[in-house]
Amino acid sequence: MNEPVLTLTDLSAWPRPGTHLAVLGYPIKHSISPPMHNAALTELAKADPQFAAWRYHRFEVPPDELPAALDKLLAAGFRGLNLTVPHKVIAFDKVNTVGSAASPIGAVNTLVNEGGAWSGYNTDGYGLRRSILSELGLMFAGSDVLLLGAGGAARGAAVECLQNSVRSLRIVNRTATSRDALLHQLAPLANGIPIHGIDPAHLPSDLPAGLLVINATSVGLRPADAPPINLAALPRPSAVFDMIYNPAETALLAKARELDIPAANGLGMLVHQGARSLQHWIETVTGQPAPPIPVEVMRRAAEAVLAAP
Ligand code: ATR
Repeated sequence: MNEPVLTLTDLSAWPRPGTHLAVLGYPIKHSISPPMHNAALTELAKADPQFAAWRYHRFEVPPDELPAALDKLLAAGFRGLNLTVPHKVIAFDKVNTVGSAASPIGAVNTLVNEGGAWSGYNTDGYGLRRSILSELGLMFAGSDVLLLGAGGAARGAAVECLQNSVRSLRIVNRTATSRDALLHQLAPLANGIPIHGIDPAHLPSDLPAGLLVINATSVGLRPADAPPINLAALPRPSAVFDMIYNPAETALLAKARELDIPAANGLGMLVHQGARSLQHWIETVTGQPAPPIPVEVMRRAAEAVLAAP
């Protein structure tokens, strides 16, 4: 069961007893975060009853109301927030301190009430890296990454790649201007790592085998979408990761399966970014190291929502 969709007027019911968290988005009705986090809190409460008083809500907040929403949620005593489309970039300038992953990305997905002010973090890159490690058995360190896309999602992935010492990074995007803009933003973070821009219409002939292919484009969100790249035209990649999780198998992942290339969709990324956010909130509220976050419970809750009609 998902949480009711709340709006700012519902904040008149606060402060309420307990520890309150929420996700803000516009629209918010598709967010899987509330059932995922509430399942984790229910599981944690089995070992530590304090978590029975924690609740994760969802608020529909239009972009022009975000600054007021952040103030009101703080005043109402909310301890942590997740931000989804379109708030991740808008909120970046509205929070006090920004974590080391968030600042080069220019976007925050996690806010933590630290002493009466919002601090901003970005756990999406962590979620991507952790999911690729646990589902594909690959570390970013030493990998040759072929990243599809040059929008916000690709920027976050590229920063995570560079901060975790990939061997090389290739950015594939059909529009040269956004590809070049991303290359320009990434240059100060390269630290000697070679970064190449690639036009998908002219794939270079000297690509190495064993590339880790990551899709950060929106291609595949519609079930009829063709794959954003022809995997068969590449020297055999080591693995394919698609940030999309709905549909569960995009045409890119279906092709990877057909070619017997290890592949994973974006559900693990969603779960692990959420687990990292929850860990931040617990540690800030309790002042203690967080217990292990039940990621498998979170994954099952997310899968249940996605499978519901
Ligand atoms: P997000 O914030 O989710 O990354 P975005 O900033 O709109 O969303 O970026 C969408 C990405 O998907 C871009 O890299 C876009 O490529 P362009 O810069 O060429 O537009 C890519 N994309 C969207 N539709 C595409 C399509 N039909 N074919 C190829 N790439 C596409």
